[in-house]
Order: sequence, then C-alpha cells, then structure tokens
Amino acid sequence: MADVAALATIERACFGRDGADDLLAAEISRSWARVRVAELPGDGLGAFIDGWLVADEFEVHFVATRPERQRRGLAAMLLDHLLAEVFAEGARSAVLEVRRDNTPAQALYRARGFGVVAERRRYYDDGEDALVMQCALEGSLLMARPAHYGGR
Ligand SMILES: CC(C)(COP(=O)(O)OP(=O)(O)OC[C@H]1O[C@@H](n2cnc3c(N)ncnc32)[C@H](O)[C@@H]1OP(=O)(O)O)[C@@H](O)C(=O)NCCC(=O)NCCS
Repeated sequence: MADVAALATIERACFGRDGADDLLAAEISRSWARVRVAELPGDGLGAFIDGWLVADEFEVHFVATRPERQRRGLAAMLLDHLLAEVFAEGARSAVLEVRRDNTPAQALYRARGFGVVAERRRYYDDGEDALVMQCALEGSLLMARPAHYGGR
C-alpha cells in the first residue's frame, strides 16, 4: 500500500491514466490479486505487474515500466518471478489480452513463452482489436529463466 502513489505515477506515464490510486489500492487488497514491484536501489520503483490468480490460471492484467527505465529487463524479470510464484501456488497457465498495436508488449510476452490463441475484434474503447495470449507454466522451465536486469 505504501507504493500506491508511485504505482499510479508509473501507470500515468505508461497508459496516460490519471487517478488510479484508489483502483490500485482496491486491487492490492484483493486476496486473489498479485501485485509485485521492481525497486531500483536509490531510484524508487522502476516497474510493476498486476494479475489475478483464478483457480489454476493466472490472468496478467498490467505490466508497466517507467519510460526512462525500459529495455533493461525489468518487465521480463517481474513476469518471470510472478509466474514462478503463481506456479508454486497451483497455476498451470497464464493468459492475457494485449492491444494489436502494442508491439513492444507482444514482443515481451512472446519472449517469455506466450503465444496468440485468439483475437477479440474491436475489444477496446477506441476500436482496436485484442490478441489473447497464453503460456503453459512448467516449473523447471520457469526456475531456469535468468533474471536479467541489465541496468543499462
Ligand atoms: C511493454 C513494457 C512493459 C516492457 O517493459 P520493459 O521493462 O522495457 O521490458 P524488458 O526490458 O523486460 O524487455 C524484455 C523483452 O521484451 C521485448 N521488448 C520490450 N520492449 C520492447 C520494444 N519497445 N520493442 C521491441 N521489443 C521489446 C524484447 O524482446 C525485450 O528483450 P531485449 O531487450 O533483450 O530485446 C513497457 O514497454 C511498458 O511499460 N509499456 C507501456 C505499458 C504497456 O503497454 N504494458 C503492456 C500492456 S499491459
């Protein structure tokens, strides 16, 4: 909860959404939500990830990295750690929706083992399509992934 204001700042910078503080606080308090942050020594929060553990599936809702700290492996590290964590809690697959025009996020998810399994036409308010991406979780594979924060 102490990180809510910093998370809202990252959300504003990445998605242009204002006033997310209350929504984030509500999200953190849900027992089925998993919100994890990447803290940079002496530099505050660099990134965060949010999703829901629903039975044996994990739904990734948001991954966001401060613009000036992108392409250093933070989102990949958060995703890997959280997927390993929810695997230990019983999740056996992970699923998410991503805008068709969000090619950086799609590249991130593909690099972490997700593939497109469906499309949702005109899913977003502005008419953009969603791609549904899924990843089978397998413990030994998750543990073997390097946490490769580059610090460039
Ligand atoms: C998508 C996002 C979370 C990636 O965060 P990041 O910390 O920069 O990602 P990483 O450094 O961990 O990247 C890991 C891999 O993802 C891919 N990737 C990430 N950003 C990319 C980009 N802009 N272009 C192409 N590939 C990209 C690459 O394969 C990258 O590995 P590499 O750097 O070794 O080539 C970030 O761009 C962001 O916050 N975007 C705005 C919010 C958003 O759209 N979130 C996703 C939808 S909820």
